[in-house]
Amino acid sequence: MPSLSTKPWTVAVVGATGAVGGTMIRVLLEREFPFGELRLLASARSAGRVVDVAGTKLPVLEATPEAFEGVDIALFSAGADTSKTLAPAAAERGTTVIDNSSAWRMDPAVPLVVSQVNPDDLEWHEGIIANPNCSTMQLVPVLMGLRDAVGIERVIVDTYQAVSGTGGRAIDELQGQLSAHAEGRPLEVSVYPHQIAFNALPQVDVFLDNGYTKEEWKLVNESRKILHLPDLRVSCTAVRIPVFVAHSEAVHVETREPITPERARTLFAAVPGVVVQDDPATSTYPLATEAAGSDDIFVGRIRQDASVDGGRGLAFWVVSDNLRKGAATNAVQLAELLVDRGWVRAAATRDAAGSPA
Ligand SMILES: NC(=O)c1ccc[n+]([C@@H]2O[C@H](COP(=O)([O-])OP(=O)(O)OC[C@H]3O[C@@H](n4cnc5c(N)ncnc54)[C@H](OP(=O)(O)O)[C@@H]3O)[C@@H](O)[C@H]2O)c1
Repeated sequence: MPSLSTKPWTVAVVGATGAVGGTMIRVLLEREFPFGELRLLASARSAGRVVDVAGTKLPVLEATPEAFEGVDIALFSAGADTSKTLAPAAAERGTTVIDNSSAWRMDPAVPLVVSQVNPDDLEWHEGIIANPNCSTMQLVPVLMGLRDAVGIERVIVDTYQAVSGTGGRAIDELQGQLSAHAEGRPLEVSVYPHQIAFNALPQVDVFLDNGYTKEEWKLVNESRKILHLPDLRVSCTAVRIPVFVAHSEAVHVETREPITPERARTLFAAVPGVVVQDDPATSTYPLATEAAGSDDIFVGRIRQDASVDGGRGLAFWVVSDNLRKGAATNAVQLAELLVDRGWVRAAATRDAAGSPA
């Protein structure tokens, strides 16, 4: 009897023509995910396009409910509206959806998972699994190191987010504004409310009634759910900056027990996928330009927060590639975990050994 982990799975990428979808295809290939068929889906606008996948020309098909027939795992990255309608349709057909949008993240019946933080939550999925927002994704593995050792009381995060977090149109807009500036032409603004070139916009997504933006509030709620700390006190200011790839975050944490920067460095370095880069003497700290293209989360500038009494405050800087660990890589890592643990099928349709019941 062949082991489940060697079965060539049928995998679909929904949003295959987008910034995240394209990265998903690359990461599936790089990590040699065991797929027998890769189905590329997007909107009707892209149907008929051909994408070169490792030398094989694959057609882009329209994402319809029927397109999921025979698909084992679908990686969705086509916005919340598409996920709301198509993810349940896919799940009804026996497909397990790993969704990158905000559509399902806070649904109590849907696990929200970061591969190295709460992989066991995958076990109870019923066909839809949510991938966190990119700014949450790079934060929680680092916070996990502190939660487990000294407890966390309060977290304040200020983000410096790349335009690729908005998608392909925003990448084009920044590039267009840089070119226009260099050529002395007027800058065109359409994706963001203001010019993004040479600017810092303290608005990521729309404003909510409480004065926060949706992005800031996602980070608050998603961090609590993933870390299993429903009452954690979190505040965030999310800022869009003219960087193409990799989000940076200035983080201040108030811990329950005292902690030194030296101990924090050791704790952070022990978290899988986290790399400490911290040597002020040589100006060594995480940089967006170096994190782009990597699957790791980089942390540095680790120091005692002088505004918190009793050695219970830490400040640090976290950087990661928002398209890779912040989206595509974590989605593929979740798919790998499902295969390895025998949890590809929804929990209700699985027997105790993990095979379809
Ligand atoms: N970028 C990030 O850092 C990041 C991180 C985490 C999560 N996400 C989430 O991932 C999603 C996509 O982001 P992105 O940056 O890849 O955006 P993008 O570059 O704008 O790409 C959007 C993709 O969605 C497809 N799409 C749009 N409407 C569709 C529909 N009705 N049916 C099927 N496919 C449709 C597009 O296909 P067409 O080419 O046919 O229009 C395209 O492939 C968003 O939900 C975003 O919130 C992004």
